[in-house]
Amino acid sequence: MSMNTYVKIKSPATLANFGPGFDVFGIALEKPYDIVELEISSGPSTITTKNYDLPTNIHKNVASYAALKLFEKNGKNTSFSMALEKGIRPASGMGSSGASSVGGAYAAAALCGTVNDKDVIMAAAEGERISSGNAHADNVVPCYMGGFTSIVSIDPLNVINIFPEGLNIVAVLPDIKVSTKKARAILPDKVPMADAVSNVAMASCVVHSLMKKDYKALGIALEDRLSIPYRKTLVTGYDDARKAALDSGAMAFSLGGSGPAVFAIVDNNKKEVADAIGDAFADKGIGCTKYMTKIGDGAQILALE
Ligand code: HSE
Repeated sequence: MSMNTYVKIKSPATLANFGPGFDVFGIALEKPYDIVELEISSGPSTITTKNYDLPTNIHKNVASYAALKLFEKNGKNTSFSMALEKGIRPASGMGSSGASSVGGAYAAAALCGTVNDKDVIMAAAEGERISSGNAHADNVVPCYMGGFTSIVSIDPLNVINIFPEGLNIVAVLPDIKVSTKKARAILPDKVPMADAVSNVAMASCVVHSLMKKDYKALGIALEDRLSIPYRKTLVTGYDDARKAALDSGAMAFSLGGSGPAVFAIVDNNKKEVADAIGDAFADKGIGCTKYMTKIGDGAQILALE
């Protein structure tokens, strides 16, 4: 049997933390997404990127680095050419590096002929390490698996995966850059016990409301006291955007990952809520990109030849 030599992967944006689940919860979005194409080649490995200025050194770009890690895990020293088409803005809080890392690792696994979920996730998390200094997996896991994910443990791989139908989301990305490295550095080493207790209560409520499809309950449940109170200082207009979203009928509001993206859980009022959030940022002189989207599937192989 001859091996495949070309693969094309679609890997979606994600919202890590999803309220109270710092470094644990995440959801996949239907859009935006990245596209990774990987082809076996004979020369030195290369990567080209489209839409944003990203590293073209294969050891520094997260997508090619994750592919290298996956090939290495399979004992292969494969030369390749990779093309990364970014649909997700870097430093957005929408899992941009996670999507590229998953795309690279999943593509390499597909060309190895065996796709082992844990190997893909571990290789992708290594991509996150070179991007943010930390191998957190709460973007790569939902990006790969889809739906809502809660990471119980990585080794052994144990993930709660729920597919809450009809969970409509408005994600708004203000024209501010927040590096995950900086947003992690701003967090305290210790938190008050009352804040930890509150997050446990809210996290249980998130899981229950998703399982019951009671999305109104997310209004309380997306409250976070471990990271957002510190990080919102990096997102000018956060409190006003939150108020505007809730006043215009959003069921819940929170920060995407380490920001600056914010998101709201909505019903049939996506446009009103997106416009209200956009106007709140505009009042501060900040432009933004609005995504009217919903919870989506995980990474997909679009072509394998
Ligand atoms: N859980 C990570 C953080 C996600 O909040 O730092 C980064 O996107």
